[in-house]
Amino acid sequence: MAKLIAYFSRAGENYFNGSIRSVPVGNTEIAAKKLQEITGADLFKIEPLHPYSDDYKECVAQARDEMQSDARPELKAYPESLDEYDTVYLGYPSYCGTMPMPVFTFLEHFDFTGKAVKPFCTNEGSGMGRSEQDIRRLCPGAKVEKGLSIHGSDVEESEDALRAWSED
Ligand SMILES: Cc1cc2nc3c(=O)[nH]c(=O)nc-3n(C[C@H](O)[C@H](O)[C@H](O)COP(=O)(O)O)c2cc1C
Repeated sequence: MAKLIAYFSRAGENYFNGSIRSVPVGNTEIAAKKLQEITGADLFKIEPLHPYSDDYKECVAQARDEMQSDARPELKAYPESLDEYDTVYLGYPSYCGTMPMPVFTFLEHFDFTGKAVKPFCTNEGSGMGRSEQDIRRLCPGAKVEKGLSIHGSDVEESEDALRAWSED
């Protein structure tokens, strides 16, 4: 059966090894595209209807508010169906120790029963945080496999790790 890579990623201002830089493509998107080259899986970008601010501090404030209110931000679009997929690679940055809330919206939209969910998370030090626990809660019936944590600032060097993890 086919495999899907569904990911959230944000371009714009972000922290890289302690300093703020603006980037045209987010870290998780870079990892997701590498993973697509490795696996040949389909690719879907999870995009909130109202994008986060390009400004790092404003984005952190927005993300924190959403988390505190347990929000489910509306998404621009969804894949029509996940029926053809037996495996979903789920990519996201760590936001406040878990996934950005638009990823919660995405997971609750579908029934993952019987599917393998393989999470990969780019971050600046939190690792997978609470995200795997949250995925298990949001996708009852899914087989949530071991996640891959990628240091966001080193995403360009993540190919070997992605390959080994995806073949595991
Ligand atoms: C709103 C926000 C919250 C973040 N929270 C965390 C965090 O809790 N732990 C962490 O290690 N990194 C955190 N980061 C850093 C990102 O997880 C990291 O830079 C990631 O690679 C960004 O991925 P992206 O470019 O695909 O969006 C945060 C970044 C943002 C913008």
